[in-house]
Amino acid sequence: LAAIEVDISAIASGQAIKTIWRKQPIFIRNLTPKEIAEADAVPVSSLRDPATLAQRTKEGHKNWLITLGVCTHLGCVPLGAGEGETKGEFGGYFCPCHGSQYDTAARIRKGPAPKNLQVPDYSFKSPTVVQIG
Ligand code: FES
Repeated sequence: LAAIEVDISAIASGQAIKTIWRKQPIFIRNLTPKEIAEADAVPVSSLRDPATLAQRTKEGHKNWLITLGVCTHLGCVPLGAGEGETKGEFGGYFCPCHGSQYDTAARIRKGPAPKNLQVPDYSFKSPTVVQIG
């Protein structure tokens, strides 16, 4: 199945875009220093699906949070990857279907979803171009 290349140069700090890969929504988010600090402040052992932000991003690109936009409960598309949308109680993403709350590393923090938003296979082709898949 085809990989896609996405130009991320226009995504300012604090913004996110949605794209589509393999018919699934993908969220690409440029985390602010505050959002990174919030993610790093959470004790990993307290998490339902333990992982650090560093483990969920690429080395040297910790501000780029790239995940599937598919709630791990029953597959709705969470809110928070667009202007004016709620980011939920933990500043990341909020699933309106049954209230799952994800943090700024897209880790599940509250609600019925069992897992963090999935990180797809991807790589940086350049500082401003990401290949997904
Ligand atoms: Fe997201 Fe149920 S599908 S909370």
